[in-house]
Amino acid sequence: MNFTQIQQLEDRTQVETYKKMHIAVERGEGAWVWTSDGEKYLDLYGGHAVCATGHSHPHVVKAIAEQAAKVLFYSNLVYSEVRARAAEKLVSVAPDGLNKAFFCNSGTEANENAMRMARMATGREKVISFSGGFHGRTADSISATFLGKYREIGKPNVPEHISAEFGNIESVVAVADDDTAAIMLEPIQSMAGVTEADPEFFIELRDLCDRLGIMLIFDEVQTGIGRTGNWFFAGSGAAGGIVPDIISLAKSLGSGVPVGACLVNQRVSAGIKVNDLGTTFGGGMLAMAAITATLEAIEMDNMIENARSIEQYLRDSLVGNSQIRSIRGKGCLLGIEFDGPCSPVHAELLQNRIITGTSSEPNVLRLLPPLCVTTKEMDQFIEVISA
Ligand SMILES: Cc1ncc(COP(=O)(O)O)c(C=O)c1O
Repeated sequence: MNFTQIQQLEDRTQVETYKKMHIAVERGEGAWVWTSDGEKYLDLYGGHAVCATGHSHPHVVKAIAEQAAKVLFYSNLVYSEVRARAAEKLVSVAPDGLNKAFFCNSGTEANENAMRMARMATGREKVISFSGGFHGRTADSISATFLGKYREIGKPNVPEHISAEFGNIESVVAVADDDTAAIMLEPIQSMAGVTEADPEFFIELRDLCDRLGIMLIFDEVQTGIGRTGNWFFAGSGAAGGIVPDIISLAKSLGSGVPVGACLVNQRVSAGIKVNDLGTTFGGGMLAMAAITATLEAIEMDNMIENARSIEQYLRDSLVGNSQIRSIRGKGCLLGIEFDGPCSPVHAELLQNRIITGTSSEPNVLRLLPPLCVTTKEMDQFIEVISA
């Protein structure tokens, strides 16, 4: 089918939920995708922050194909070597103390379970999250999402959600108390425009949680799995070295095979009993093979180091660009703040066959490239925005 035929068929048969780019992606390799019309695009949006290992990384493809031929799925009612190995591998790269995993299928589901586990561990209900944060579209996660219109879409909201101002510890202190189960945050608020907070903020949050017995949840659906130049934002210098009680993950975790996870510490896992949590597809063999292969590919190809070099390269290359006000973010989660709205730049890049993202901050263009993107590939982007 050509593009028009594909577009017409999709539009006729699906509920219109996304504003789509006018391309149909047919295949991908590394940081590149090819369209149904045979055109090649540089993907600096990483398939919506998912394809950290690059499109169709051979190691991941091989692992999935081999697993598919053996057994696609069996649930958590049985043991599985591939699940055991995935959990072992994931826990081995996790920050100290986060030594158990719970597997699910998406980011919103990881956050729902993270909040539920925090409530179970504390016997409390209230959850504090932040203005500008995005946590997903199911009932509890959307109720914790104080970005733009989302909570409104999710009405009626789940009770016991309250917001504080990201980066402002006093605003958290004002609402935190010994009825609070969890403080949940995106440590870099991606959709809000790649908004960052000082390491001191995270240190103070950790301290506040320790004093009041609150569970600290990092939603690392975007920042996790190497994206910000460390396996996780948690424990990194940018987090002031602190580690939360729970990390939620999805997006990059399976290189495109849908999978989510919560990493938890002993205090949290001790509060969970058989039948408290569950999901049919969580821990399925295909997804588990994808997790192990994703983490191995990131290690084999030194992608975490590469993510850091890409950030530095971009920052160095854009010094002196008079249209750019600031560059935000870490590693391969970057926001470029322009003097005015970034939508014309976004459109021009697309015309030049470079895919990037916007954000809810009109001036901020978002880059979420695969962690294997090269400086040479980034030059194509730099050339267009420097012209
Ligand atoms: C930080 C963050 N948390 C949660 C989610 C929800 O993930 P999913 O779309 O897999 O449910 C997203 C999705 O964009 C996200 O960016």
